Amino acid sequence: MLSLDVNGKPYQVDADADTPLLWVLREHLQLTGTKFGCGIGMCGACTVHVDGKAERSCQIPAWKAQGQKITTIEGLPEDHPVKVAWIQEQVPQCGYCQCGQIMEASALLAANPRPTDDQIVDAMEGNVCRCGTYPRIKQAIRRAAGAVPGKGG
Ligand code: FES
Ligand code: FES
Repeated sequence: MLSLDVNGKPYQVDADADTPLLWVLREHLQLTGTKFGCGIGMCGACTVHVDGKAERSCQIPAWKAQGQKITTIEGLPEDHPVKVAWIQEQVPQCGYCQCGQIMEASALLAANPRPTDDQIVDAMEGNVCRCGTYPRIKQAIRRAAGAVPGKGG
């Protein structure tokens, strides 16, 4: 039995200890905002926060996530500046990559509230978007960081 802290709630999960955290979140906890893209740490679709840092949940065996605070897209408040900016900039196209993008961006801004454009590009380069929403992602991060004046953003 695994003991996990996800979105501020304790869970006991009956899963193999080596199961990737991604599948524990999706299959056992029904937190399906976290997506499977590549399974090899190369796309960012499965990004969650582990003790506040953006991590690829497909690469973390569930046993290793015990004792750490896991946050998924469902645990990020709806009024979080990154979520608000994403809506204001109408970032998503198909949407598949976007939960991972938001988790990466929110970890970036937590660590660096006023990133430069180069720092945004550096932080986000591992998060792939097949729809090419990169310009809107960058603009939304700038908005969330307060670099772009916005309505209530
Ligand atoms: S599914 Fe984890 S990085 Fe692609
Ligand atoms: S919005 Fe379609 S993959 Fe990014």
